[in-house]
Amino acid sequence: MYTSEQVKKIQKETEEWLSKKDALNINAEELRNVIRFHEHRYYVDNDPLISDFEYDTLYKTLEKYEKENPSSITKDSPTQRVGGALIKDFPKTNHLVPMLSLENSYNDADLIDWDRKAKELSGLNEIEYSIEPKFDGASISLIYENDMLIRGVTRGDGETGDDITPNIRQIKSIPLSAAFSQHHIRQIEIRGEILINKNNFKKYNEGLMEEGLPPLANPRNAAAGSLRIKDPSIVRRRNLEGFLYHVSFITPLDGYNISIHKHAEMLSLLWDLGFRSPKKEMKVVNGIEEVIKVINDFEKKRDDLPYEIDGMVIKVNSLELQDKLGMTSHHPRWAIAFKFKARQATSQLLSVEFQVGRTGAVTPVAKIKAVHVGGVTVSSISIHNEEYIKEKDLKIGDSILIERSGDVIPQIVKSLPALRTGEEINISFPQHCPECKQSLFKSDDEAVWRCININCKAQVVERIIHFVSKDAMDIKSMGEANVRKFFELGMLKDIPGIYEIDTNRLKNIEGFGPKSISNLEEAIEKSKTQPLHRLIYALGIRYVGETTAKTIAQKIDSIFDLKNRSEEELMQMDDVGVKVAQSIHEFFKNDDNIKLLEKLAGLGVSLEQKTAAPVLGNLTGQSFLFTGTLSRLKRSEAEEMVEKLGGEILGGVSSKLNYLVTGSDAGSKLEKAKKIPSIKILSEEDFLKMLSI
Ligand code: IVH
Repeated sequence: MYTSEQVKKIQKETEEWLSKKDALNINAEELRNVIRFHEHRYYVDNDPLISDFEYDTLYKTLEKYEKENPSSITKDSPTQRVGGALIKDFPKTNHLVPMLSLENSYNDADLIDWDRKAKELSGLNEIEYSIEPKFDGASISLIYENDMLIRGVTRGDGETGDDITPNIRQIKSIPLSAAFSQHHIRQIEIRGEILINKNNFKKYNEGLMEEGLPPLANPRNAAAGSLRIKDPSIVRRRNLEGFLYHVSFITPLDGYNISIHKHAEMLSLLWDLGFRSPKKEMKVVNGIEEVIKVINDFEKKRDDLPYEIDGMVIKVNSLELQDKLGMTSHHPRWAIAFKFKARQATSQLLSVEFQVGRTGAVTPVAKIKAVHVGGVTVSSISIHNEEYIKEKDLKIGDSILIERSGDVIPQIVKSLPALRTGEEINISFPQHCPECKQSLFKSDDEAVWRCININCKAQVVERIIHFVSKDAMDIKSMGEANVRKFFELGMLKDIPGIYEIDTNRLKNIEGFGPKSISNLEEAIEKSKTQPLHRLIYALGIRYVGETTAKTIAQKIDSIFDLKNRSEEELMQMDDVGVKVAQSIHEFFKNDDNIKLLEKLAGLGVSLEQKTAAPVLGNLTGQSFLFTGTLSRLKRSEAEEMVEKLGGEILGGVSSKLNYLVTGSDAGSKLEKAKKIPSIKILSEEDFLKMLSI
């Protein structure tokens, strides 16, 4: 959307604005454009050119100026996304054109049949198609008039939806204004999908779980739910994203015609006007055979995308032919959705067990008839708390729909009460801890029942299991089963006990040969030098999930630094709110916890940031980005390897990047990286060699 000349000009202006101390006599519209440019780089291109701090500085300068000169404020100023007022209700409004859904296809034969019909109707031998991802979010339509965003509407029943404009304005990848008039467009209705990306979804669910709340089953529900929140400032914090993929209605400026003939051109136009259209993901091909190839290739990349897709959408590229093909009563004939393998499956709820977690929370876990979903077999699934059971209307014996989207823990989407036989049994909650038998306790502001006996055996064991787990200290050979075994045998009583295990005793235990014993010794030894953020997470401080642990670790040199920080000081860190700060403060006020840490230090566990450097190889201070499809490694594995060795994964290509690792089909990121001489471009093989693997 910006030429390289424009980028250079705006970068120069950025520097000038950053060096300006006061906000007097400024050209506010120039500053707004500079801010819009950087928002686009961040939210649409995923490739920022300035730091968050510099962006904030620009934003604050504008905010200050507008406060002093309120008459200068424009409706599409970047400051005007932030609607202060709560929304009373979402008024109903008609779509300019009804929002139809698409016909679904599930295999090659379905597509071939659809193509045959389109060819028959059009009289053509071969049709040009464009193929793009089927974004799995909440569909919306946007209306721009005279270059300004005037309305954002949910799909509703297809004819009428809810006007959610104040919430749409919170989504930074959706421009508040766009230069449609330069293309002779007075009014336009655009369709698209609102998403929450996998990373933000994971963070959001982590937050819910830390608060003892049930996580959401999939990013689609998270996006749809977020759009209906009546406080736009909360919507803003959800970090939603918008993809726009279809223009349903255009009114030209008086005296003009619009001369766009292809869907692909329309996506390019939207992209050029600052929208996040699937221009880069889209492929244009001739004939259905080519379509099938593209779909197969894309499905392989599904897990590497930052957002969820549930299939591909195939569209006739010629807009004239689209018109000619028209629609049935339900669907357009010029487009079809190809659905990828479902990540949902039906099962049956067989029984419920109650498990005591490391914080004493008693969680009901449903044992279900084993089903294969999203690449794994699921036979038990958390049903979180009493309220959740009520809300999902779950009974023992029920048929249930479960989902495992991406690498998220499987969740129950809903029960299927229509299939009940009358034999189903209500789930009743225990009043005593299933482990230590003490009375359970529930505070007013929480949904979970807790065992408050800190020495409850179940809690102690769970704390150790958490400490050794993959995302915490990652003591591979220890694992849940061994922790339980060692605890039963009296060989392990607490967390420091891990580093004092008498491995000689293991020789007499079934299943332990010399090799497994030395593996265990090695894994325990290696964990002593894990990075500080893993230790912080491993301690199981309430509300401190993996993401928060990482943020905290960046701000301290030693774990004991946290002991001396007040709640206010802790809250200065990103991701640390009142609850987290209180919880950390309480943890470090407790002498037993300090003794535990001192004991760990005495046993050789690193509690310092600097000594947490990797032992295997050293990528500290080096940044990486992966692009294209890797053949030997999954992208998530490769990223984890980099992080384990002290390196950092960046979100986009910029001069901050040291290495770009390229798989097959590397695209724009590779092109961009080639233009920055300081970036070293590696193949997957080079990367593995670098790590001596
Ligand atoms: S085109 C007139 N393109 O999937 C048809 N839809 O039932 C306009 N979707 O309702 C829709 N990604 O919510 C189109 N690239 C894409 C899409 C897409 C997701 C959704 C949309 C639609 C549903 C299909």
